[in-house]
Amino acid sequence: MRNWLKANRSKLGLTGLVLGVLLLLIIMTLPVTPVAAAPRPQAEQPTDESCLACHHQEGMTAQVGGQPLPITIDPEKFFASVHGVEEIACVDCHTNITGFPHPAVTASSRRDFSLELYPTCQECHLEQYEKTLDSVHQRAIAAGNTNAAVCTDCHNPHTQTRLTDENTGELLQEARVVIPQTCAQCHSTIYETYRESVHGVALEDGNPDVPTCIDCHGVHSIPDPTSNSFRNSIPALCASCHTDETLMAKYGLSTNVLSTYVADFHGTTVKMFEENYPDQPTNKPVCTDCHGFHDVLRVDHPDAGIAYKKNLLGKCQQCHPDATTASFTDSWLSHYEPSPQVFPLVYFVNLFYKIFIPAVLGGMTLFVLTDIYRRFIVRRAGTKAAVEAETKEEETNE
Ligand code: HEC
Ligand code: HEC
Ligand code: HEC
Ligand code: HEC
Ligand code: HEC
Ligand code: HEC
Ligand code: HEC
Ligand code: HEC
Ligand code: HEC
Repeated sequence: MRNWLKANRSKLGLTGLVLGVLLLLIIMTLPVTPVAAAPRPQAEQPTDESCLACHHQEGMTAQVGGQPLPITIDPEKFFASVHGVEEIACVDCHTNITGFPHPAVTASSRRDFSLELYPTCQECHLEQYEKTLDSVHQRAIAAGNTNAAVCTDCHNPHTQTRLTDENTGELLQEARVVIPQTCAQCHSTIYETYRESVHGVALEDGNPDVPTCIDCHGVHSIPDPTSNSFRNSIPALCASCHTDETLMAKYGLSTNVLSTYVADFHGTTVKMFEENYPDQPTNKPVCTDCHGFHDVLRVDHPDAGIAYKKNLLGKCQQCHPDATTASFTDSWLSHYEPSPQVFPLVYFVNLFYKIFIPAVLGGMTLFVLTDIYRRFIVRRAGTKAAVEAETKEEETNE
């Protein structure tokens, strides 16, 4: 026995240690277990301060699937964020973490980690969460492109500040200005193009009236911009601002751009399609075929403005490849109502018909009416004469 003890001393020591640690662990968890079973009272939760006691340290990283994950949280930014201000605690979102050590991370990469954690947002923002389910981004993820945006790509939960006015619910101007930068994390080429456009330049100057990415695409439920229904809805989209009298008056821009477009041979068809067959393809131009979409420029832009025939011709040629002379563009009235100054020929031809047609039709009508009248008189006169003649005859017979 003694020998056995002697021989197994080290083994026993190890077992003793293991047992001791186990006992200690059981003791440590004892007061916690019954509480965890019931809904946790507020006071028992680890406080934000206790989490931040470690996580405020600069340069902290964890390993997730072999990739480094920075885990420093700036307390100042957190407490200034909308969640900090609203007193949402770390553990309201990190529901699986109750202290240290933390439960093992199951994610196999940093991206996987984000994809595992973002659904926690739906606990409090179900409306936005449900909208995203049908968006191009979720569809891309479903199709295997895990780089498509989820909540936390556009909203850092630890630093996100308020986006909308607490009382009116309106998007704040300081939030609006930076929206394109949010998208630029992944759509940088489009962002660079947009920045140079008439809309993008104005936005960076603080203009609140121009469209950002989300005015044209939506935000949580972004539809496929390459679909037929999206294309057919473009005139209505641009017109939502460009027919607004008070808005456009500020910039001296014409508001008849939609009515003149719809009145022309191209627009009439697109409008009809939009109303009756939103999903059918149209081969007629919409606003963006002439103006571009991310690269919309002033029409009098010195290099590429489409008020100049040579620049406009290139747009027509996309669909009218045989059009080779700049004068081809004259076949279209642009957004102008013809007048003695602009398109005088069309104006006077229109005017001529406006006078000529009523004159001809009026003359014809007058002629027909007088003719009917004359015939009526004649017939009446004829009948009267016949009756008189008959009575006369009768009289003579008697
Ligand atoms: C004793 C220091 C310490 C405390 C206290 C602490 N953490 Fe951590 N935390 C770490 C370290 C170290 C890591 C790196 C991964 C690891 O070792 O588990 C980490 C990792 C994390 C991670 C990243 C991935 C993961 O789940 O491991 C999250 C999220 C996290 N902590 C949240 C919290 C929250 C929330 C609290 C407060 C309830 C908290 N931490 C308290 C030290 C701490
Ligand atoms: C509104 C919900 C929410 C709150 C509040 C919150 N977190 Fe997070 N946290 C998340 C989500 C979601 C992620 C995953 C982010 C991602 O995609 O990388 C995360 C990630 C982390 C990480 C991993 C590093 C990173 O940024 O991805 C740490 C560490 C962390 N949180 C600590 C904390 C601490 C500490 C607090 C409190 C001071 C806190 N969190 C408060 C939702 C929250
Ligand atoms: C425990 C509840 C809770 C969770 C979970 C939560 N939030 Fe919030 N969040 C709030 C509250 C409360 C507000 C303030 C809302 C208000 O006043 O309309 C808010 C505000 C916001 C705002 C600003 C809204 C605005 O109108 O300005 C954004 C953006 C946001 N949260 C994103 C997220 C994201 C992303 C996640 C997931 C990582 C998340 N939240 C998780 C409670 C939560
Ligand atoms: C592609 C980027 C992007 C993604 C992904 C995204 N958001 Fe947003 N979110 C925005 C922008 C930009 C705004 C501000 C525009 C606005 O309020 O209309 C916003 C606004 C909000 C608001 C303020 C209220 C509102 O509806 O306008 C909340 C809350 C919010 N998001 C939560 C979420 C949640 C939760 C998710 C994930 C389910 C999410 N967002 C996904 C970009 C995004
Ligand atoms: C985290 C990266 C990321 C962010 C941030 C992001 N996107 Fe995306 N987006 C993607 C990916 C990836 C796709 C899928 C690309 C594909 O399928 O070709 C995509 C697809 C799209 C599409 C559809 C493209 C197509 O050809 O059908 C639109 C539109 C779009 N995003 C708009 C936006 C807008 C607007 C924002 C900002 C509010 C934004 N995205 C923010 C990654 C992102
Ligand atoms: C004035 C309206 C408008 C604005 C502003 C706008 N877009 Fe677009 N976007 C469109 C239209 C229209 C299309 C579809 C064009 C087509 O394919 O016919 C499109 C297409 C896209 C596509 C898919 C096709 C492609 O070119 O890859 C993505 C992604 C996209 N936009 C992202 C963005 C982002 C990010 C921003 C902000 C930086 C933005 N858009 C700003 C109108 C707009
Ligand atoms: C077939 C090509 C074409 C189509 C389609 C088209 N435009 Fe134009 N647009 C032009 C040309 C060319 C000009 C420049 C006219 C000029 O000043 O000579 C112009 C001018 C404009 C202007 C500047 C007006 C001003 O007061 O200076 C706006 C705004 C505009 N268009 C918006 C639209 C909108 C919105 C649509 C769709 C409803 C649309 N355009 C459809 C070719 C087109
Ligand atoms: C959210 C409102 C809004 C939407 C949507 C919008 N625009 Fe604009 N657009 C403006 C404003 C405001 C200006 C004037 C900017 C300035 O002059 O600084 C402008 C300027 C323009 C100009 C320059 C006119 C000139 O020559 O000075 C053109 C062309 C134009 N927009 C075309 C379009 C087209 C095409 C669409 C649709 C794809 C569109 N816009 C959608 C608000 C809008
Ligand atoms: C997106 C394609 C597209 C663009 C861009 C376009 N058109 Fe057209 N256009 C059409 C289609 C389709 C028809 C109908 C053709 C038909 O029914 O034979 C048409 C018809 C016409 C007609 C009527 C005569 C005919 O051939 O039937 C004229 C004139 C015309 N376009 C001029 C222009 C001018 C000028 C421009 C440039 C400012 C232009 N188009 C740009 C697609 C386009």
